[in-house]
Amino acid sequence: MLHSDSYGSEGGSDQPCEAAFAAIAAAPTDRPFVVAQLGQSLDGRIATLSGHSRYINRFAALEHLHRLRAHVDAVVVGVGTVVADDPQLTVRRVKGRSPARVIIDANGRLPQDAKCLVDDGVARIVLRATSRPVPPGVQEILVATAADGGLCPRSIVETLFAAGYRRLLIEGGARTISIFLQHGAVDRLHVLVAPMIIGSGVPGIELPPIAVVDDALRPVTRVHLLADGDVLFDCDLRLAVSGESEHV
Ligand SMILES: NC(=O)c1ccc[n+]([C@@H]2O[C@H](COP(=O)([O-])OP(=O)(O)OC[C@H]3O[C@@H](n4cnc5c(N)ncnc54)[C@H](OP(=O)(O)O)[C@@H]3O)[C@@H](O)[C@H]2O)c1
Repeated sequence: MLHSDSYGSEGGSDQPCEAAFAAIAAAPTDRPFVVAQLGQSLDGRIATLSGHSRYINRFAALEHLHRLRAHVDAVVVGVGTVVADDPQLTVRRVKGRSPARVIIDANGRLPQDAKCLVDDGVARIVLRATSRPVPPGVQEILVATAADGGLCPRSIVETLFAAGYRRLLIEGGARTISIFLQHGAVDRLHVLVAPMIIGSGVPGIELPPIAVVDDALRPVTRVHLLADGDVLFDCDLRLAVSGESEHV
């Protein structure tokens, strides 16, 4: 079913993609809830080979991302995104409260002058495998369990939950989202597809190879058409479609 959401003339709306946000608002309060988002082209790219990505998605998708931030307790990014894009990770395009900002930076690559470390009253947290030293601008180091040469995503989620951050947005980049997906640490995935074919470039989600498509993730998905042509796929990773094939 395609849900067409109406935006106002400036791209704003009272309740775009209402069902997608209702699912986050209704998440159980006694356990963590993880939503990941990725914006990409029709051919599954998030940037050109040179790394140029601004902008694949259009205004409505950007507003959707800010609205997602306003619905969670903490927004989580890999340090690669901070190095590449220097995002603020605030909700400045929508009404609401900016979530805590969490950077996964096991190897201490986080630039000291990163915009996400600006002291605006919002918590700034770095996740590592060890607790020392605390870099300038960072309020707190949280320690997660090491696994497979990195930090275990489930440990990251549990660590943040224990620190009071229940609803998490894994905002990117592709590598971070892929690792969380691979470890079954995502409840909901929002893929925002722009009607654009780049034809080469940086891929989005990448998981270990599978031999047959029966082994692919096939989440129950709702589709929303945004006003300026991008499409939101709201995927429930906790509900899988049955393996029966449908021939068209
Ligand atoms: N299209 C979108 O929606 C979107 C959103 C955000 C970003 N982006 C794009 O994505 C690109 C950056 O993405 P990326 O995939 O290169 O990098 P990334 O996912 O932002 O960061 C990856 C890095 O974060 C650290 N990391 C992440 N998860 C970890 C874990 N579980 N354990 C240990 N370390 C972990 C590692 O740092 P170390 O290498 O230091 O170990 C890893 O190399 C940029 O071009 C940005 O524009 C796109």
